[in-house]
Amino acid sequence: MNSLGIATWSGFGRHTISPLTDHDESSRMEFTINLFRALNGIQAHHRTIYDRKVEPEFKRQHRRPPKDRHEVRKAMLKDSTFQVWSHLRVLAQQQLFENARISVDRQLDTLIGKARSKSRGKIKGSLELDAKFEVPRYQRPFDMHWMPGSYFTEFAEKDDVAAGALYDFGGLYVLTNGMLGKYNDGAGYAVVRYLREKFPKFSPKAVLDQGCTVGHNTLPFKDAWPKAEVHAIDIGAPVLRYGHARAEDLGYAVHFSQQNAEKTHYKSGMFDLIVSTMFLHETSYKAVYNIVKENYRLLKPGGIMVHVEQPPFAMASSPFDAFTGDWDTHNNEEPFWGPMHDMDLADVAVKSGFKRANVFQEFAPMVTPVAGDNYALGKGRWFVFGATK
Ligand SMILES: C[S@@+](CC[C@H](N)C(=O)[O-])C[C@H]1O[C@@H](n2cnc3c(N)ncnc32)[C@H](O)[C@@H]1O
Repeated sequence: MNSLGIATWSGFGRHTISPLTDHDESSRMEFTINLFRALNGIQAHHRTIYDRKVEPEFKRQHRRPPKDRHEVRKAMLKDSTFQVWSHLRVLAQQQLFENARISVDRQLDTLIGKARSKSRGKIKGSLELDAKFEVPRYQRPFDMHWMPGSYFTEFAEKDDVAAGALYDFGGLYVLTNGMLGKYNDGAGYAVVRYLREKFPKFSPKAVLDQGCTVGHNTLPFKDAWPKAEVHAIDIGAPVLRYGHARAEDLGYAVHFSQQNAEKTHYKSGMFDLIVSTMFLHETSYKAVYNIVKENYRLLKPGGIMVHVEQPPFAMASSPFDAFTGDWDTHNNEEPFWGPMHDMDLADVAVKSGFKRANVFQEFAPMVTPVAGDNYALGKGRWFVFGATK
């Protein structure tokens, strides 16, 4: 991030496991950051197009305004400005991962070697992989948000880390103009801040992060509560190998394990805090029920479950706002995005065993980490869904 608050590729947080970028690759990433910033700026004008052109035309035809986000979307799809923006936004997303793929591909052997070296000798945390692990059906068909091979595909024959390197390469940093910090860990610190305010006396001894990917938002829990035992699970072996090496390199003791959050191997009542950041929307309707039920089993009495997402559509201020928040469902290889944001999560929690009075659904400010457990309040807000047991 430079002094104007603009993210630059040179400002992205590196560690020894990070893929390196040569001159041309760095220039392409700099261009991609600028492209996303420009597209985000243009998106702010969709409302004007809708108010001045699209909605009046809809009203002329139907003698009423659009009743929901689906009708808004169908109407907006006829507008050429929106069409061009939407195509460019898809291309930018694909370009981002294509840049990452080229860099990761050419240095994959080196990255695997570096990750291996971080798993040997005196290590702080651990890595447990399951050679017979079955990737859930709802994950298999998609290159999630256009990431080639998603989180679980193995490109190398042994000890592959490509998916981890691809994900770490700048996705969120580029998409959000660095808003989540140079290590992409703003969501984790936002949860820590939220918990400290809401439960000032809470100090977990055992924490579980589910759908941890490379652990960007797992490490903040170790920063916040250094004595806590921190566990992190994911379905993807390559992201876990990379995440483990990254955590070791950055000096954090985290126990990474390849497990399905719907049904884990942990003992009942093992955790005081169970979290997830940007995870539920990449699962399935049935999986969300299974995950929350499993969270209930794994929590100690008095323990806390927290899932961080974007707000449900029921909280959108208008059908247009819900339409804006639904772009990924139709364009970003994230088919469960929309259905998940339509779910009644309080009902899921109650059906999973939590008392309704103990369920919370509210907003928490986004934060931009500056250094370690030190952050600036960001512009946006997260939707927090959780419950105490
Ligand atoms: C969008 S990413 C989460 C990002 C991560 N929490 C972060 O903050 O950077 C979703 C992750 O959930 C994992 N995942 C999907 N289904 C899962 C399941 N049933 N159990 C555990 N992990 C799962 C995916 O492999 C992926 O790494």
